[in-house]
Formats: sequence, structure tokens, C-alpha cells
Amino acid sequence: MRKQYSFENSKKLWLEAQDIIPGGSQATRAPLYPEFPTYFKKAKGCRMWDVDGNEFIDLLCSIGPIILGYAYDRVDNAVREIMKDSFQSSMNHPIQLELARLLIEVIPCAEQVRFLKTGTEATQAAARLARHITKRTYIARCGYHGWADMWWYGKTEGIPKAAWETIPRFNGAAEDLENLFKKTNEPFAAVILCPADTRPFTKENYQAIVDIAHRHGALVIFDEVKTGFRTSLGGAQELLGVTPDITTVSKGMGNGYPISAVVGKEEYMRRMPETPTAGTFSVEAISIAAAIETIREIKEKNVVGHLWNSGQRLIDGLNKICRDYNMDEPRAYADPVPSMPRFTWKSGEDNPQHPVHQYFFGECVKYGLFFSQWHVAFVNYSHKNEDIDEALDICDFVMAKTKKYAANISGNANYKKAVVHKSNPVKAAT
Ligand SMILES: Cc1ncc(COP(=O)(O)O)c(C=O)c1O
Repeated sequence: MRKQYSFENSKKLWLEAQDIIPGGSQATRAPLYPEFPTYFKKAKGCRMWDVDGNEFIDLLCSIGPIILGYAYDRVDNAVREIMKDSFQSSMNHPIQLELARLLIEVIPCAEQVRFLKTGTEATQAAARLARHITKRTYIARCGYHGWADMWWYGKTEGIPKAAWETIPRFNGAAEDLENLFKKTNEPFAAVILCPADTRPFTKENYQAIVDIAHRHGALVIFDEVKTGFRTSLGGAQELLGVTPDITTVSKGMGNGYPISAVVGKEEYMRRMPETPTAGTFSVEAISIAAAIETIREIKEKNVVGHLWNSGQRLIDGLNKICRDYNMDEPRAYADPVPSMPRFTWKSGEDNPQHPVHQYFFGECVKYGLFFSQWHVAFVNYSHKNEDIDEALDICDFVMAKTKKYAANISGNANYKKAVVHKSNPVKAAT
């Protein structure tokens, strides 16, 4: 019989943090509740250990960045080496050129490169560049691009409407972009899309988006912060064979070290110094050293092939479990590629708060599998078949419990409504 973990130490720290850290957590994404581990202090490969000594197989990989594995020797050794010399100054470090050359070699649209630290910085810099070059303001968007004022949508405290009202969304299909251009009747500076969110995920659709944008005089930005290095070494653009003008990358680039980049065609990138991208830490070379070794390792070891195989093994295993338990609604699928598997229930597809979702994923965490209904899963190069099979064993065990849980609540009026966790998690803890 499996034993459910307890999170007493995590919970204690989390409650103490309420007084000194807004919301009690620097991690701004779920799961953020006292009955889950909130403090991890060690990680290696595809496993993590929390402050209660619980061991987890990780299927979130820091929401994407951990592409090779935690504490990956080749990457961390390069970091240790650069720390002995110099990694931060008011000028450049020579290894910048190495990383720039690598990115130019692997990303189809890359002819020049600007380094930054986060995905949000990169998308903001790319958008600003497009606005500067075209002397236009409107940007059509599809997907998540970070937390800057311009990318938030709808009325939000602290964000002026002026920041986002010129950034309308399209649904991912080329025809919808065409309609948006017509309907808005404004000149557009750019179209930005996240390939993880833009459907259909086909060469035809993406090429049509590029063609429509260009016909309207707009630049095309692929925001490959999430899909870069994971869908293919050169990102979704390489996989689909469609080349944008500008691309943003981050997450998988440095195996967890904070780095991002705007890359693109020379005719656009050379205009970058005309508009500010001033960052004290853009020269910081710890992350640059990490990124060089991360990208070399991905290239030399067929890491992408491994990620696809591991992801597919997880997808197949989850679907088999659903069949074994006669759960007809849940399904696992590549979103958009097997290295980014998603597991969901039809009835709650747009609602990760559905109680059966909450129950399944919550129980997984309580039995040693770090998995969340709020995100696609991410696998890394250190997930071996045995790890995926062990993860599936936990899912199998939890699915048996979930099935009973679902049967118990299916007659309940809240079944479709779905709010297990209320908005004040501190109260829930006490
Ligand atoms: C496609 C995409 N763009 C931008 C971002 C923002 O990156 P960051 O969280 O590093 O600011 C994210 C983060 O999830 C992302 O997935």
C-alpha cells in the first residue's frame, strides 16, 4: 500500500512566509495550497526532494526550463568554471559570441542575437522592435507571452488599458487573423504567436499566418519561449518549416539558468540598438555558459528524440490507464508535440478547477508525482523509461481512487461547477 506524504515542514514555512512574502510564495503558479509541498530543497535528474524529505518524480520541470535534468553535470561544471573567472562586468564576456553563433546555427530565422534574462523581457523587446521598425502600434497576438503590461488582457488592477488595448487576440487560425485585420482596420506592427497555443499546428496554417501578416506590412514574431529546443532543436519553426522574422526563446535554453534571447533576421535585428533593451544583467555569463553547454548537449545527444519518446510513453500509459478503468472522458495527448504531454478530462477541458481534475492531480502530488492540471507536462532528458513507468504506476494507483471519488460526487450539483479550493488558501490551512 502506498503511503500518502505529509507536508508539515513545507506548510510551516509557507505559513511563516505569509507575513514577509506577498501571498506566501515567490512561485506565482499553482499548485499553491498548504496541502501541497511548497518548498523543495534538492533536485537531481528528474527527481526532487522537499523539506519534509518526500521524493517526487517531476513532470513540470520548473514549468519548462529543465530540459536535460536537474543538477546536470555538463551544464553545472561550465557554470563552476566561469565563476572562477568573471561572469558579470560592465562590459561583454567573450563567450557571448559562442552562444550567439550556436543560436544562429540552430534557429532557422536567427541571423543576429540579443540576450536578456526572462521570457517576458524578450517578448516585450521583440514587440518594441517591431513597433519601432514599422512605426505602427497594433500587435495581433495568440497565446501567453508573459506578464508585462502590454501582454495582460482585460481589466486588471495596476495595468492601464492603454498598454493592452492595441494588442488584440486572434484564435490561432490564419482566417481569424485575416478577419481581425479587417475588423480592426488599423495598421499592425506585428503578429506574435506562441506555437504551444496556436492551432492548427500545421505548416499550412503557420505559413498562411506569415503570408497574411506580411501582406499587411506586419512583422511575424514566433514566441518560442516554451517551444524552443523542445519541439525541435530549432523550435516549432524548424519542425513546421515556417520561418518568422523574429523569435523569442528562453526556458529550455539554459537548463534552468535564467536567460532569454531575441533572435531574428539581420535586417530587423540590426535596428535593435535604436530602441532600449538596457539590462544590467544581459551580459551575465553564468547563464550564457549554461546555455552553451545545454544547447551542445541537446544537439549531440538527440535530446529532442528522447523527450518525444518519453512523452509518448507517458501519453500512451495514461490513455491505457483510462481504458483500464473505463474512464471514457479523460485523455492524454501531445500538446502540440509529445515532449509536452497534456492530460485532461473532456468535461473540464477549459476548467482545470474541475473537482475530478483537482482530485487526480492533487493525489498524484501526495503520492510522489509532481504533475499539475494547470500546465502541459514537461519531460526532461533524465526521465528514463523506468521513471516514466514509475510515474504511471502512481497514476494507476491514483486513478483507482479518482474513479471512486468521481462516482461519489457525480450526483453532486458541484460536479460541473468545480471549486474545491476557495480563494483564500491561508484560511484553508488553519
Ligand atoms: C510562450 C511564453 N512566452 C513568454 C513567457 C514569459 O516568460 P517568463 O515567465 O520567463 O517571463 C512564457 C512563460 O511561461 C511563455 O510560455
